[in-house]
Amino acid sequence: MTAIPIIIDCDPGIDDAIALLTAFVSPELEILGITPVCGNQPLERTVRNALQVCELGGRTDIPVYAGCFRPMFREPIYGQFHGKNGLGNTTLPEPIKTAESKSAVDFLIETLSAAGNEGKRITICCLGPMTNLAVALRMKPQIAEGIERVVMMGGAYREPGNRTMTSEFNVLADPHAAHVVFSSGVQIVALALDATHQVMLKPEHVAQFSEVSGRISETLAELMAFWDRNDVRRYGSRGGPLHDPLVIAYLLAPGLFKTQRARVFVEHESELCMGQTIADWYGKSGLEPNADIVTRVDAEGVIEFFLERLSRYAEKAVA
Ligand code: BDR
Ligand code: CA
Repeated sequence: MTAIPIIIDCDPGIDDAIALLTAFVSPELEILGITPVCGNQPLERTVRNALQVCELGGRTDIPVYAGCFRPMFREPIYGQFHGKNGLGNTTLPEPIKTAESKSAVDFLIETLSAAGNEGKRITICCLGPMTNLAVALRMKPQIAEGIERVVMMGGAYREPGNRTMTSEFNVLADPHAAHVVFSSGVQIVALALDATHQVMLKPEHVAQFSEVSGRISETLAELMAFWDRNDVRRYGSRGGPLHDPLVIAYLLAPGLFKTQRARVFVEHESELCMGQTIADWYGKSGLEPNADIVTRVDAEGVIEFFLERLSRYAEKAVA
């Protein structure tokens, strides 16, 4: 089996943490690096959280490169549903591991340039605002040749936004970055709210997950229980959408997802609709599609997938 080389760009974040923990126990993925960005929390915190999650998951072998301190042009907005520390107020031990001295942008440029030169392609998983990748693409557009595709969580097409009426958090947090990435010519798989709202993490799932996940069960239960409280008012029931982990599920179990190709535009000028993602479903723009937008998710299949993966933490083989 040749593992898929990936870079995980993220802003942990409770659901980012669950995505990372799932990727850590998936040998089909070769994680070349983790590149935290300013998003759910200020950069210092997302870096620290990424390091703590690496230690929790027993994957201190994966290098962590700190990314951009701020969005390209706008002020940071930060997440509202991840607790004060960004990890649902769970108390994880101080990380022993430290971030690399190289920045995320330099790491992206060097790694993707080298891959492009060698005829290799790397998949970029974007779980937060896409500032790091956009800045790297702006500094060296040729890195697009080293990108297999970008699988990103963000945007809202037929669904309303979750941070404003029109816009989803990751895209709103840096709409200019999203605009750069969607205009760059790289192939994109978009897991927007349309997809993630189909997979709600309910209290019964939280119980199941903590039952199977061995040595991480306590922290996972705390993270998930915090998440479960978030969206009661918004969705009218307990449970929150499992946003970022769907990126990892998509890579490993694509049969659970249905997509539709379309040209995507990102609004980055109007304050009213800032960060809105617009899909040209019917080819009105005359422009080539640039994204596969996930329209349907087999929710039960996805929950089963995560249960199986996270149960690997109960196996002796996992550090
Ligand atoms: C996205 O926003 C963040 O709060 C989550 O981590 C996820 O990436 C969902 O809109
Ligand atoms: Ca995130």
